[in-house]
Amino acid sequence: MNVSRTMIEEAIAKKLDVKCFSSNPFRLADLGCSVGPNTFIAMQHIVEAVERRYLAQGLKSEMPEFQVFFNDHVGNDFNTLFASLPTERRYFACGVPGSFHGRLFPESSIHFMFSSHALHWLSKVPEELLDKNSPAWNRGRIHYTSGPEEVSHAYAAQFEHDMEIFLSARAKELVVGGMIVFLILALPNGIPASQNPYGIMFDLLGSCLMDMAKEVRRMIFYFGIRKVNLTSNS
Ligand SMILES: C[S@@+](CC[C@H](N)C(=O)[O-])C[C@H]1O[C@@H](n2cnc3c(N)ncnc32)[C@H](O)[C@@H]1O
Repeated sequence: MNVSRTMIEEAIAKKLDVKCFSSNPFRLADLGCSVGPNTFIAMQHIVEAVERRYLAQGLKSEMPEFQVFFNDHVGNDFNTLFASLPTERRYFACGVPGSFHGRLFPESSIHFMFSSHALHWLSKVPEELLDKNSPAWNRGRIHYTSGPEEVSHAYAAQFEHDMEIFLSARAKELVVGGMIVFLILALPNGIPASQNPYGIMFDLLGSCLMDMAKEVRRMIFYFGIRKVNLTSNS
């Protein structure tokens, strides 16, 4: 976040033309905010950078009030999020439950959208991965690392589909002249997924989950038999 902070501040200072915003308040959204504290730090930095932009454009007297929309899935712990809101914040806060793979806000209502480490979450597991008859059947893995090419393609196709829905929703919601900033994990060109640190981590995690699943299956088998015996004894 610290690395990206300077880049975001520069983008706001150079490219956000606040003169074209007539409406008060200035509305920001964090998509996939989780429960904090990262979201609070990011929102604070963005509010400060926008304030500086108003000053730089000679609009001190038109400094708007700020409103931040914290978005995440309905299952997110919004209680924890709101209980830990910084007391010194310079914005009004509200929660927006729901998936960002769809519309979240009225048309032309948000001036600045932000999303950090959330957009790589797919809306669903690609169906082919679960189909035993498909070349993309991802048996024994939770990710595309070390899987056949068809598995990577299935994930890529799902991501492309999700991004298209995401971007067309944001295009409607953003005001003209507004700005979107995404921080997202990416794989450098030419590096195989299996050599990527994240890929290695997902391989290890997948293998642990497989071991746990096998253990659970063994326990079900064992206790299943005991249960049959107990039932027949009683
Ligand atoms: C790794 S956390 C990142 C949290 C925070 N943005 C940060 O940078 O620390 C990813 C968050 O994205 C949320 N998320 C994933 N898919 C989402 C979706 N379709 N709609 C809204 N939130 C989503 C998850 O629930 C999770 O809270």
